[in-house]
Amino acid sequence: MNISIIGSGYVGLVTGACFAELGNKVICADNDVKKIANLTKGIVPIYEPGLEEVIKLNLKNKRLKFTSSIKSAVKSSEVIFIAVGTPALENGEADLTGIENVARTIAQNMDGYRVIVEKSTVPVETCAWVKKTISTYIKKGHKFDVVSNPEFLREGSAINDFTHPDRIILGVESAKAKQIMSSLYQPLNRPILVTNIKSAELIKHASNAFLATKISFINAISRICDKVGADVKEVAEGMGLDSRIGRHFLHAGIGYGGSCFPKDLEAFISIAEKLGYDFEILKAVRDANEEQKKFVLQKIKDELWIIKDKTIAVLGLAFKPNTDDLRNAPSIDLIRSLIQEGAKVKVYDPKAMDKAKEFLKDAVFCKDLYQAGSSADCLIVATEWNEFKEMDFAKLKKSLKRPLIVDARNIYDPKFLKAKGFTYIGVGRGNE
Ligand code: UDX
Repeated sequence: MNISIIGSGYVGLVTGACFAELGNKVICADNDVKKIANLTKGIVPIYEPGLEEVIKLNLKNKRLKFTSSIKSAVKSSEVIFIAVGTPALENGEADLTGIENVARTIAQNMDGYRVIVEKSTVPVETCAWVKKTISTYIKKGHKFDVVSNPEFLREGSAINDFTHPDRIILGVESAKAKQIMSSLYQPLNRPILVTNIKSAELIKHASNAFLATKISFINAISRICDKVGADVKEVAEGMGLDSRIGRHFLHAGIGYGGSCFPKDLEAFISIAEKLGYDFEILKAVRDANEEQKKFVLQKIKDELWIIKDKTIAVLGLAFKPNTDDLRNAPSIDLIRSLIQEGAKVKVYDPKAMDKAKEFLKDAVFCKDLYQAGSSADCLIVATEWNEFKEMDFAKLKKSLKRPLIVDARNIYDPKFLKAKGFTYIGVGRGNE
């Protein structure tokens, strides 16, 4: 099939590259001329395992093309995915200006039937607006269908999430659009749920909000664990074995971050408010997440007493492992607070250092974890990279000023570290 993807961010690039890999002819369009020039040469602006290889391969076999002309992408494709950014406005609502612009451009350049697929995370009823916008600006009465096909891929495992999704959601209004979209996804051989458009839009918001709720719930349980001397990892394991609960997204830690959960939760709260519903549960989830970040900082203070003039090592900057994405990364808030209180903060991350240098001006960037730990009064693990799970603890202990590890992602066995002579502080591991 000839398809185009408008917007070459995370979702757009992964979707485009994977559809090309499945044998389709794909054009990825973006109005960022420099980004497109780089992508045409195979230079990918984000770190995502496997993505660069798939892009390079499909550029070579000419199944994948990049263009800064949205017009030409619209003209040559039967299926057009909208994957432009929907950044948060100050009031938490999603800014849909990009989507409206693209809908107008599509309308003005369509020269035959098109399926227009909404992939960005958008408020319920956005597809209805896209349809209305296209109907208003369309030149000659070409027919078209609008589809909601929300994306559930996670950064760090995006290619695998695209090719092996738990489900594919297709919100459609016509048999023709259902047939085209189903055959596009058929090679993946994964469950497809066909719904009406508004249900599909809500499935995305409801899923992200529910996952964030699971995380805030287990983080709240971690607080109780600390107070009574229970271990939240054991509690989560015991809960997760109940198939009604499931074991995923029950890892307590420093709070969730990233480009999706914080933004989508805000957007969902404000959508509900507009509809006349006060989504109190989600407000509590958001507040618990903010609390959790402060809680880790408080644990450090409880142990170090005075932060001023202490040297503190922070391992991990990205909001999760296997990405260089720093958006809403809990590590950043923590580092800023420590610096503000007068600490010297030494940082190391396997992939996110270059991006972090742009805005963490006062931190000391180190070449590896041992250099970060050298002469530190405290070492904090803020992102659970594998590299940190497998470190040489004897070497680290020698370089630290004080063998204190704050494991904000609960990746270590407290007994193991205590036996090696470290003071161990986890989240919900019975420390209080
Ligand atoms: C999320 C959704 O999972 C995905 O379906 C959607 O398309 C985009 O948003 P992503 O933000 O890439 O994906 O990462 P995810 O793995 O969901 O993690 C989000 C945040 O939650 C990270 O900061 C992570 O560290 C945190 N998290 C996750 C926890 O703190 N505990 C957990 O148990 C799981």
